Amino acid sequence: MMSPKKVYLIGFMGAGKSTIAPVLAERLGWDWVDTDRRIKERAGMSIPEIFEYYGENRFREMEGEVIAEVSREEQGVVAVGGGAPMDDRNWSRMKDTGETVYLEVSPKTIFERISPDGSRPLLVGLNEEEKINKINRMLRDRHPSYARADYRIDCDGAGPGAIAEEIVRELGNHEES
Ligand code: S3P
Repeated sequence: MMSPKKVYLIGFMGAGKSTIAPVLAERLGWDWVDTDRRIKERAGMSIPEIFEYYGENRFREMEGEVIAEVSREEQGVVAVGGGAPMDDRNWSRMKDTGETVYLEVSPKTIFERISPDGSRPLLVGLNEEEKINKINRMLRDRHPSYARADYRIDCDGAGPGAIAEEIVRELGNHEES
């Protein structure tokens, strides 16, 4: 049975990538990585701090470096920061080394999940209406990139276990075909 070397979980902030990655990894008996976590550890500061001190461009460079590094590593599930698939270099690295899975959630779910926390610098300092507008706008802009994924999983209303199961099933179907 052929297995992909890596499964990259992509999607918008709040889609559940970092929650589902360890659950899926356990099912597959693989390791897992979270690109944001690795960036944070390396920089010794939080994502909002990196944005504040170095700016978004530097953050995107760090993100590209981590994706390049992860793409060379062994089998694993990778929770990828929400903006990374917009970069074609990141995209080709992911496509060349594994399967990409788009965890799709509605703007409403995104808003409910990420609204109260301040860990997303791109949405910080906005009022409710501005946040909803920005989420809608960003989703519209990003959707074409996310939709290039090998698999698309509807994650609204499903728990991490069920979603991980569905991904395993999809990967299995693909292997058999
Ligand atoms: C970002 C998503 C965040 C983090 C950074 C930028 C984005 O990751 O990388 O705040 O551009 O969508 P999550 O998708 O894990 O929240």
